[in-house]
Amino acid sequence: MLKLTVIQGDITKLKVDAVVNAANHTLLGGGGVDGAIHRAAGAELLKECRTLGGCQTGEAKLTSAYKLPCEYVIHTVGPVWYGGRNHEEENLRNCYLNSLKLAEEHACQTVAFPCISTGIYRFPKEQAAQIAVSCVKQSASALKFVKEIIFVCFSAEDKKIYDKLLNKDTVE
Ligand code: AR6
Repeated sequence: MLKLTVIQGDITKLKVDAVVNAANHTLLGGGGVDGAIHRAAGAELLKECRTLGGCQTGEAKLTSAYKLPCEYVIHTVGPVWYGGRNHEEENLRNCYLNSLKLAEEHACQTVAFPCISTGIYRFPKEQAAQIAVSCVKQSASALKFVKEIIFVCFSAEDKKIYDKLLNKDTVE
């Protein structure tokens, strides 16, 4: 059984097995949640990221978490929203699927996701949340290690969207 949780807060504070970072192709840091993760993890994270050779949209790469309280950071690159006809939905779905795949490969039990692509990359918030929730629910039966997924919302507005979508917090 997979537990789905929604919280409002700062993803860099969470003591989970893996936090997901909404990164960019370079994996060398940026603004938003990416900037917050790099600041909190310290310069060693950037050093490891430099060895990864970047990341394509929809793909994911895993690093240590250094000064963060979690074990791993899974860096994924969400799509920039160009109106919806540029494979944005499929790419966002792949961010969740590929992040969960890495979490499973590293035997993570708890994984925290930010609202990927809905900040600087402008993906519509409700649509992104629907994709996030449907994607993890569809993956539930295939997950062997991951027991809890936490959707971390920075704003009250985002939390409301997820609360509405997840009117129950467990799926079979
Ligand atoms: N904890 C949780 N969520 C946060 C935090 C935090 N500390 N800080 C921001 N958010 P964004 P994107 C939320 O812009 O749209 C970067 O420059 C934020 O409110 O961080 O995927 C990268 O390097 C929003 O809901 O990511 C890329 O260039 C969500 O995180 C680009 O931004 C995602 O917003 C990626 O843009």
